[in-house]
Amino acid sequence: MRKWLLAIGVALGLSALAQTGKLEIFSWWAGDEGPALEALIKLYKQKYPGVEVINATVTGGAGVNAKAVLKTRMLGGDPPDTFQVHAGQELIGTWVVADRMEDLTGLFRQEGWLQAFPKGLIDLLSYKGGIWSVPVNIHRSNVMWYIPAKLREWGVTPPKTWAEFLATCETLKKKGLQAPLALGENWTQQHLWESVALATLGPEGWNNLWNGKLKFTDPKAVAVWETFGKVLDCANKDAAGLSWQQAVDRVVQGQAAFNIMGDWAAGYMATTLKLRPGTDFAWAPSPGTSGVFMMLSDSFGLPKGAKNRQNALNWLKLVGSKEGQDTFNPLKGSIAARLDSDPAKYNAYGQSAMKDWKSNRIVGSLVHGAVAPESFMSQFGTVMEIFLQSRNPQAAANAAQAIASQVGLGR
Ligand code: GAL
Repeated sequence: MRKWLLAIGVALGLSALAQTGKLEIFSWWAGDEGPALEALIKLYKQKYPGVEVINATVTGGAGVNAKAVLKTRMLGGDPPDTFQVHAGQELIGTWVVADRMEDLTGLFRQEGWLQAFPKGLIDLLSYKGGIWSVPVNIHRSNVMWYIPAKLREWGVTPPKTWAEFLATCETLKKKGLQAPLALGENWTQQHLWESVALATLGPEGWNNLWNGKLKFTDPKAVAVWETFGKVLDCANKDAAGLSWQQAVDRVVQGQAAFNIMGDWAAGYMATTLKLRPGTDFAWAPSPGTSGVFMMLSDSFGLPKGAKNRQNALNWLKLVGSKEGQDTFNPLKGSIAARLDSDPAKYNAYGQSAMKDWKSNRIVGSLVHGAVAPESFMSQFGTVMEIFLQSRNPQAAANAAQAIASQVGLGR
């Protein structure tokens, strides 16, 4: 028996060594948000030393630039071997409905992933009987970041509601802090909006926006823009020119008190800036969203016509493995998508996110692909521009509803 097992092990090892050719991995994890991906690639190279890995990144938070490049490549018949895509509508509504992805159900069965991942997540990756990508993580969207020492210095505590937030903002302005909230480019403003919307509408109301039960023009939904406008008055005026990292930097450097950002900010502060979570920096659910975890999941898929299909399949196996996930996520600020990940490998932030993931009410992120089709999401930036220029809640609500009707949201 032992000998047999040894022989199988050797054979598997040899077949990994025999793997040659290239593997192009496409993502937006470039520069200072690259360490987690690089660690995973290193692991891949250890397992498949004969494969040349091309780490094709296109800089730009939330994939704002990468998604456009990917579109050209996919439509032009030149897909990367595998690419980063958010679980949910971003994946399904674009490349799956266009019949450009391979069904990975067989791989999920073979690797035992139907049991390894939460059912709700598998549902998010599924469409018409297929499972279409492999999740590498769970990120949380609704998080507020701050530096405890700075808040102590200013004599304020993390606000628990938006009303408290606005009051704290006034206090801080009186103390000379011009822009207590650090904000970045358009997509980060949408990111802030989804936290304000979740707080204003509650989880039920948030879900109803996406299943069509609640119209954007409903007074409850118009009220989201009213609060959002007040929150914007608390932010820096040069937001449009800042990346999400630069907005985080403002908090770290004490130029601002708060930033609302997904927990890749924890990855950036802990891994790139080498700050200690819980002491050097801290977090709370974004105001008014305690007990709710707004999730998103990064995943990798296998496009039809991938030039290096077997190498891509081996990458996907690593992405979905316990070893792969517990290598990637502690550096990334996210938690593993798998249910069997090892908490000891994670820092204080990761452990607190794991706890919340298990106990909180879960809803999906708009900005990061979970709840609305890309046809809606890609136009939401325009709604944001309309609001920024007009500061008119009703105008923004009307624009959002027009797009929702156009794309048939909830139908
Ligand atoms: C999200 C993505 C995260 C992180 C972030 C900032 O869309 O899911 O992993 O990369 O963008 O770029």
